[in-house]
Amino acid sequence: MEDNSFPEPFASPSNDADPAESVNWLHSQVKRHHQRFASSIPLIASENLVSPLAAEMFATDLHNRYAEGLPGARYYEGNADYDPIEEHVESLAKRLFSAPFADVRPISGTSANISALFAIAQPGEVMMAPELAAGAHISTQRFGAAGLRGLNTMTYPSIPETMSVDTELAIEMIRRENPDVCYIGQSVYLFPSNVSEIVEAAREVDATIMYDAAHVLGLIAGGCFQDPLGDGVDLVCASTHKTFPGPQHGIILANEDRRLANDKMLHRAIRSAVFPGVHSNHHLHKVAALGVSLAEALEFQQDYAVQTIKNAKALAEGLWSRGMQVMASGHGFTESHTILVDVREFGGGADVSLRAESCGLVMNKNMLPGDTSAINPSGIRLGTPEMTRIGMKESQMDEVAEMIHLAAAGGMDAEVRERARNLKSEFNKVQYCWDNGRGAYDTPPFTQFT
Ligand SMILES: Cc1ncc(COP(=O)(O)O)c(C=O)c1O
Repeated sequence: MEDNSFPEPFASPSNDADPAESVNWLHSQVKRHHQRFASSIPLIASENLVSPLAAEMFATDLHNRYAEGLPGARYYEGNADYDPIEEHVESLAKRLFSAPFADVRPISGTSANISALFAIAQPGEVMMAPELAAGAHISTQRFGAAGLRGLNTMTYPSIPETMSVDTELAIEMIRRENPDVCYIGQSVYLFPSNVSEIVEAAREVDATIMYDAAHVLGLIAGGCFQDPLGDGVDLVCASTHKTFPGPQHGIILANEDRRLANDKMLHRAIRSAVFPGVHSNHHLHKVAALGVSLAEALEFQQDYAVQTIKNAKALAEGLWSRGMQVMASGHGFTESHTILVDVREFGGGADVSLRAESCGLVMNKNMLPGDTSAINPSGIRLGTPEMTRIGMKESQMDEVAEMIHLAAAGGMDAEVRERARNLKSEFNKVQYCWDNGRGAYDTPPFTQFT
């Protein structure tokens, strides 16, 4: 068997080295990073591959420019060609998500969430959101976006087995506590939320309803998770690079304009919270790349989203049939791109995810309900967005499940590493997009210094 272990990082240049050496070193490290991913099985639920065509936008002059404000009303000159790009990207987003309003300027899911909370809430108000232990994002926490806005947070009761909100109890709580904001959405999002029921209760108390689709935007775009805008939420915030396989960026979508309880109009409040509130430059090259990804999604996203969910179910089945404790077994494991596995019998999430990485299986440790330590939690979180993006289907999921089981149990690391490398060598092209001939993990053609 050949030595399949990953090479050690190159030694960093010394502090007094020729600065050009740093450039060569950076090139080498990035190449190693590409090689690592070219030969590993990517299982991080929040990661994906932007299409090669969209990535072409990253290296354009747009990267060098500012466009503060809105098309036609900028604080900088030089945007005559860029302004129609931003307008068109927004119209593509509105078309794909059947959204009356889109703002494509947030530079990440978190900055979209912060902008939204500045638009719809005032310090001292109450926001209800899922519990951290039930998969909520740090945006909902005192030490995240909610705290930054000065909000008091309350959490919906949850159903531990499915990591979801207990809708009946949540509705009682909304009616009793009168929150100002109802936040729906999770980082571990196994099953769709009961959005229309929460919307109905939230409307009774005049709360604004925000849906965080960072993880599931691509499933929503593919029409196979849920339709929060159709179900009546006021606004949707998201990252554009998880199940939606676009550039690392953010987006805010909104329903028809309405006057909020804070007396602001929804659309205008979002516009001014995004800029000048939370952003200055909004990374124009990423907006153009997002345009390519939205156009590709209009063509390919439905097939991709359907296969992503099929793969997650197949991966869960494969692990379960090998005796691993996949959560929500009584509910079909998942209706999304994510599964959760309790790996306490193998030493816990921290041990298993590290061991798996050395075998070429890239995943993250994850807290399960009842856990108190995020450093050494009981579980691992596995996702299928990237494996699906490179063309893997159900039969490969079974093979990957076998490798995960062997890696978790330990003792066969070299064999698993070789299997992972062999399997991955057959899947190195981004699918569900237009082909420009580049491989998924190709290194850019760096200039070599002498
Ligand atoms: C539910 C949720 N919201 C927001 C974010 C933040 O997204 P970003 O990394 O784009 O800031 C995440 C990130 O994983 C997430 O899971």
